[in-house]
Formats: sequence, C-alpha cells, structure tokens
Amino acid sequence: MTEVIVVTSGKGGVGKTTSSASISTGLALHGHKTVVIDFDIGLRNLDLVMGCERRVVYDFINLINHECNLTQTLIKDRHKGVDDLYVLAASQTRDKDALTKEGVGEVIQMLKDDGFEYIVCDSPAGIEKGALLALYYADRAIVTTNPEVSSVRDSDRIIGMLQSKTLRAEKGEEPVTTSLLLTRYSAARSNNGEMMHVTDVDDVLGIPVIGVIPESKDILTASSTGDPVILNKDSDAGQAYDDTVRRILGEDLPLRFTEEKKGFFSKLFGR
Ligand SMILES: Nc1ncnc2c1ncn2[C@@H]1O[C@H](COP(=O)(O)OP(=O)(O)OP(=O)(O)O)[C@@H](O)[C@H]1O
Ligand SMILES: [Mg+2]
Repeated sequence: MTEVIVVTSGKGGVGKTTSSASISTGLALHGHKTVVIDFDIGLRNLDLVMGCERRVVYDFINLINHECNLTQTLIKDRHKGVDDLYVLAASQTRDKDALTKEGVGEVIQMLKDDGFEYIVCDSPAGIEKGALLALYYADRAIVTTNPEVSSVRDSDRIIGMLQSKTLRAEKGEEPVTTSLLLTRYSAARSNNGEMMHVTDVDDVLGIPVIGVIPESKDILTASSTGDPVILNKDSDAGQAYDDTVRRILGEDLPLRFTEEKKGFFSKLFGR
C-alpha cells in the first residue's frame, strides 16, 4: 500500500519544503521506501534542501512529458543511514502549464507500481493550480502553519480545498486525513502573547496536531549544507520532526517543545 502525503499551507514561506525534506528523510530512516516530489515548478528548492541539486538531470516535467523514464529521473538520496529515499526534482525553467492532472496521476501511479510506500508532495505556496495539483491525489495532508493569525487564516482556506478538491472528495471516499504541523514555534513568544499558542491554533482550525517544530537556527544550517535537520539528533527541531514522523507511522507521543525551557534562576524562584 502506498500513502500519498501532501505538505501544504495557505500562506507561503511557512516551512513546507523544510518539512517535506525532514519528513521524507524520517520515513526512510524508519525503513520505508519513500519519494519526495517538488511541485514548485520554476522555483525548485527541495533539491537544495536535500543536498542533491548537482545531480538533477531530468525532472518531474520531463517525466510527465515522457522525455525520460522513472529510473533516470529519480535521484537517490545519499545521506548516511538513509537507504530507500528518492527525490523527484522540479523543473526550473518550464512553465507551470506543463503540470497536468493526468500527468501527475500517471507519475503517482508509476511510483505506486514501483513499490513506494510513501509519496511526499512538497506543495508550492498559495491555492493556485500547482498547489491544487499537489493535494489532488493525497491520502494524507499535513497543513503547515506558523503561529500567526495570517498563517492560520490561510490554512483554513486550504483545509476547505482538502475537503472538496481532492480525488477522494470527488469519488466520495474516506476524506483525506488532515492534520496540523505548527512550525517556527517559539514557546517564549507564545507565552508572552506575541504569537498564538498551540492550543489556540488547534481550536481555530479544529484539526489534530501532528507536530510542533520549534524555531531553530539548526534549520538554516541544515538547508545550507543540504542535510535535512531530522539527521541532526542533537537539534530540538530534528527531534520534533522525528516525533512527527513517528506519529505519521501511528505512534502516540506527547507534544514536546511547546513550553518555555526554564532557566536555572526561574526554576529556583518558581518563575
Ligand atoms: N523551524 C524553523 N526555524 C527557523 N527557520 C525555519 C524553520 N522552518 C523553516 N524555516 C525557514 O523559513 C524559510 C521558509 O522555509 P521553507 O522554504 O521550508 O518554506 P515553504 O513553505 O516551502 O516556502 P514556499 O511557500 O516559498 O515554498 C526558510 O528560510 C527556512 O530555513
Ligand atoms: Mg517550498
């Protein structure tokens, strides 16, 4: 069985590509044959975050246009401990009209036939064609949101799309399993009221939380070296992504990194 997971959001720049990279790496680390697809045609970025940009020969659009075969297009991930992870890069130059519902469907079917257990789709920003195609074939959606009012409001719109604009919705099948991934979370800023708290976001959107990823400098280091942060076991963000992956795989784990770390003096004086 294959599960198609879309990493989506309403607002841009919230951490979809960062999350797609770590979640797909995590699924592979847990022994699952996984592919991650960059749907952001023209703005390819996932290959950089995954550290394979120099190995892109053919891309997603080439594959849709039958200019190459699957084996030629999939880039095998080379990180230590990761055995069965592949990247399907976005085209940098082609125009977005090349992405069609039939074409995407055909590629997803090829990947299913090839035995992939997870197909992770890194969606472009917004609710335009590219984003709608990225979510169309989804079985599961991870709605990436920052703890800010504008991001939460835009997530609400994408949740509406997930309920109406997917193949599952069209066929009247079980709805797409939809959950919330709160990224760039700062417990300190949510405690002093500068940002929304995880429970407020959860209340507004009304979907279960699959993970809370703290704001972390490790993310910047990870994307500049091309090593997804989940590979950094010492990083809070890396651990939070691993928790998220475990929850996707069915483990029941409490949320971490949602409360402020108390310093020595505040612990001592109970503040
Ligand atoms: N937890 C985090 N802590 C700190 N920085 C983060 C975190 N998550 C993401 N970022 C940073 O936020 C920026 C946007 O992240 P990313 O590219 O993953 O977002 P995106 O949703 O894919 O954007 P787009 O909508 O343009 O595709 C990047 O500079 C990334 O390094
Ligand atoms: Mg992106």
